[in-house]
Amino acid sequence: MLAAAAVSINPDDPLAGLVVGDQPEPVVPEGWTTVTVRAAALNHHDLFSLRGVGLPPERLPMILGCDAAGVSADGDEVIVHAVIGDPARGGGDETLDPKRTLLSELHPGTLAERIAVPRGNLVPKPAALSWEEAACLPTAWLTAYRMVVNRAGLPAGGGGTLLVQGAGGGVSTAALVIGKAAGHTVFVTSRGESKRRRALELGADLAVESGARLPKRVDAVIETVGAATWSHSVRSLRPGGRIVCSGATSGPNPPAELNRIFFLQLSVIGSTMGTRGELADLVELLDHTGTRPLIDDVRPLTDARASFERLADGEVFGKLVLTP
Ligand SMILES: NC(=O)c1ccc[n+]([C@@H]2O[C@H](COP(=O)([O-])OP(=O)(O)OC[C@H]3O[C@@H](n4cnc5c(N)ncnc54)[C@H](OP(=O)(O)O)[C@@H]3O)[C@@H](O)[C@H]2O)c1
Repeated sequence: MLAAAAVSINPDDPLAGLVVGDQPEPVVPEGWTTVTVRAAALNHHDLFSLRGVGLPPERLPMILGCDAAGVSADGDEVIVHAVIGDPARGGGDETLDPKRTLLSELHPGTLAERIAVPRGNLVPKPAALSWEEAACLPTAWLTAYRMVVNRAGLPAGGGGTLLVQGAGGGVSTAALVIGKAAGHTVFVTSRGESKRRRALELGADLAVESGARLPKRVDAVIETVGAATWSHSVRSLRPGGRIVCSGATSGPNPPAELNRIFFLQLSVIGSTMGTRGELADLVELLDHTGTRPLIDDVRPLTDARASFERLADGEVFGKLVLTP
């Protein structure tokens, strides 16, 4: 079957190890099922995999991709939850499972015609969501949902103030849209003028250049950029505010800013993906509010390399979708 796979690791030139071509059909363990993929979406995670982050060479070749929507072996329209927990653990929050993996880390990923997934990882796809929209949800949108709704400590009924760093990214655009849907004031930063303009069109209350001073301090920051924006995130918080961090695209070791963190009693909160239940809640939110994931581009899976090149260039606004 057709798939996009990592065949070698190259930290400096990740696309050197990407091959779009024939790969073996999925193997289906006990308790798992197959899904015929109708749409899959790219994430920065796929580039990190090609760089060898979370994907050791002995697991190659590995089909890439965490996000998919498709038709299950029973004929149901489904969205695939990408977090694979340890079945021996017997429930609880799978994101806290020390043995958890994401699709494409240990088991073949979603950039393929067919995939194998645990039956418990299937979430029903509402008819109102297109295949392409549904495919955007399991990683970037789920991560943003958990960060904004369950980790940022914002008032449940809305009225909080949120800063989203790096307005163009998959997680960032999702955090902006979810923050607005939840009734909060949302400020964004971006290095690019056109991305700032598009963020305003998406509903941002203010879009400023990366590092620029905000008109007021915020309750929480959604941080996925890392080193390049960290000090600004710390400086932008009100006393007692929270940074919720799920990524570090520009580097993981910024100056810690400990003086500000203890003096202003700030909280730094890690967040990773979300649970199957949170994915179901996110799907329900979109179904009821009419909010939709922002899609930058849809291409056939055969053109996956072009989409990877765009992701690597960083000139993307929203999600890149591939259709087998
Ligand atoms: N922990 C989790 O569960 C989880 C889940 C999803 C993603 N992540 C992580 O979150 C990060 C974002 O993922 P994504 O898929 O949303 O990636 P993406 O779509 O590629 O996001 C890229 C964005 O990062 C910003 N950026 C990159 N380098 C920057 C720099 N040097 N200075 C300022 N901004 C910079 C850019 O914002 P502007 O150009 O607008 O400034 C760009 O739009 C990645 O590190 C990813 O691994 C983690």
